[in-house]
Amino acid sequence: MYKIRKAEKLNDIIYKMVVEAPRVAKHCEPGQFVIVKIDEVGERIPLTICDYDREEGTVTIVFQPIGASTERMKTLQTGDYFEDFVGPLGKPSELVTDDFEEVKNKKVLFVAGGVGTAPVYPQVKWLHEHGIGADVIVGAKTKDLLILEDEMREVAENLYITTDDGSYVRKGLVTEVIVDLVENQGKKYDLVVAIGPMIMMKFACMTTKKLGLPTIVSMNPIMVDGTGMCGACRLSVGSEIKFACVDGPEFDGHLINFDEAMKRQQMYKTEEGRALLKLREGDTHHGGCGNCGGDK
Ligand code: NAD
Ligand code: FES
Repeated sequence: MYKIRKAEKLNDIIYKMVVEAPRVAKHCEPGQFVIVKIDEVGERIPLTICDYDREEGTVTIVFQPIGASTERMKTLQTGDYFEDFVGPLGKPSELVTDDFEEVKNKKVLFVAGGVGTAPVYPQVKWLHEHGIGADVIVGAKTKDLLILEDEMREVAENLYITTDDGSYVRKGLVTEVIVDLVENQGKKYDLVVAIGPMIMMKFACMTTKKLGLPTIVSMNPIMVDGTGMCGACRLSVGSEIKFACVDGPEFDGHLINFDEAMKRQQMYKTEEGRALLKLREGDTHHGGCGNCGGDK
């Protein structure tokens, strides 16, 4: 059992929990995710790690309820327990694993959208702790939905906030800020890391492609069980078939077929859609989840 040391509501729809999970805290790196289970019958919920404290043995997760399990999860309070808290899973961010001298010389622009701000935070923090400054754009629908502003301000070299409705700082989408920084303010970047809703990552990649900026995205939104078994997170990366939970969650955004991934995500929600995907994708569909009959 994994104790929730602190449960907090960040705003009307987003929740933050600091969970006692010493083994995960000891080994996790920015970019990785955990799978949480409320109780024995609860679904497995994959969530990207927002923060960790190796000394305290805690891992922080941030989530927005989008289904029955996360709706139940939001009712958990400080002092309650998770049945399971498995991780770290997935590959760490390349910024953490690549040659440090190379990373040190890179100017990185992070683009965080909505709840996607949570997985961006540990990457910016890691760079900051290693003496590397990074610029960060955070986009939210409204001022009230902006999360982790103070935390991000502490670790970012420059923080650019934008809201869809103009209720805080500036009005507009994150993609407009990318263009403004590069084209109007003459900022030079070697790499963009964009994490947020699929549609944001798609348009961020279209923007950075035009600007000639290599871009990494996190495909966490299409994961379902996070084990490599269900096949929900199958996606085309260039000419290759990958699975976000085992091969990612981070990928070269310019190689991802976002339209296919978003369409597939919708299809995967129904039994009929899963059956059709299995038929079309054959051996590369993956199986074993019990939802579609798997490899049978
Ligand atoms: P949101 O809809 O509020 O969007 C956040 C920001 O993204 C907006 O403020 C805007 O600046 C930008 N954006 C949205 N649509 C855009 C477009 N068409 N063009 C350019 N920019 C655009 O975000 P939300 O409601 O917090 O998002 C929730 C989603 O985030 C969930 O679906 C969840 O799966 C996903 N998410 C992704 C990750 C990840 O690892 N990629 C992590 C956590 C959550
Ligand atoms: Fe990746 Fe199920 S979430 S295979």
